[in-house]
Amino acid sequence: GANPARALAPRVPFGAAVQVDHFEADADYRALIERECDLLMPSNELKFGLLRPTRPEFWFDPADRMVNWARSRGMMSRGHAFVWWSTNPPWLEAIRDPADAERVLVEHIERVAEHYRGRLGSWDVVNEVIANDPREPGGPLRDTWWRRRLGARHISLAFRTAMRADPSAKLVINDYDLEFEGPRYDARRAEILHLVRQLQDEGLRVDMVGLQAHLYSHIKVDREALARFGRDLKALGVGLLASELDVIDFQVRGDADAIDAAAERSVSDFLDGLFAGQRPYAVITWGISDRYTWVPDAMPRSDGQPNRPLPFDAALRPKPWYVTLRQKLATG
Ligand code: G3I
Repeated sequence: GANPARALAPRVPFGAAVQVDHFEADADYRALIERECDLLMPSNELKFGLLRPTRPEFWFDPADRMVNWARSRGMMSRGHAFVWWSTNPPWLEAIRDPADAERVLVEHIERVAEHYRGRLGSWDVVNEVIANDPREPGGPLRDTWWRRRLGARHISLAFRTAMRADPSAKLVINDYDLEFEGPRYDARRAEILHLVRQLQDEGLRVDMVGLQAHLYSHIKVDREALARFGRDLKALGVGLLASELDVIDFQVRGDADAIDAAAERSVSDFLDGLFAGQRPYAVITWGISDRYTWVPDAMPRSDGQPNRPLPFDAALRPKPWYVTLRQKLATG
């Protein structure tokens, strides 16, 4: 580029969140990750229910193997997630006593954060705590088991505990549908900003907001609103990352090239808005190859063609949007 300062700036890291079983079983997939990624994280294995099949157990082994592999190759990693409405084990949701629920939350975060202290650069402390439509009755926070037991204070409690248990880890509010144009998305962005301010008013530290960035080819990214959101967060001293990027393509007609072209437009708009707001901590995709993705389970195409949500196809060949992404990471 023409800007020498930019040429000197280190590039924004690229990462992927993948399942440990796929990673361990598939050597080609592993090689792709090793070649392309600056960051590698377990997508599922640090969720409450997978980590804690019973109350006394902590199944650290699968995530440990991936995190240690990444570390030994100089790659970063991060944790997903302490508090979520989904993937809670039955023993947890059987707890009725709020004092006991609080004990479990604190103990969980302490044990897990301490186990990974110094190895995970950031944690999704809360995942998806904003209601799907925060303007609806019952909002703006999502109705979850944690909220029913402990109220909205479970969010502060989680941040306070995480801050103590691993003071060096960046603490993240992670959420979806923050990237698009329209009143529901405006409301969701506003609620995230509101939550950040509330936590800060309580003396808590929020380091970053994770934009999941599960994009849709048929939903318009609001570049202006995204840039404003990034600037508003920056003004509050809060960073930003893309934490689960992929492109959901079930509404796009056409062949693979048409699907990929539409995905490239969505990603390109998203990256423009993201980088215009502030420089992100990292851009992380949810998976890396179409070989393994949640999208066909949730939103399959109706024409029988496979979904193509990720930057590499099922044969591990890069898509056009990966070229766009690498360029943006390198040059801003
Ligand atoms: O491994 C078992 C398999 O043995 C069993 O036969 C099969 C039958 O259902 O289930 C398999 O486990 C599934 C697991 O993914 C592994 O693929 C679970 O049912 C399924 O619920 C689980 O889904 C994950 C989901 O979160 C819930 O934890 C997806 O892989 C994962 O991509 C998805 O990730 C979420 C993020 O955490 C938060 N943001 C949205 C994102 C996409 O939904």
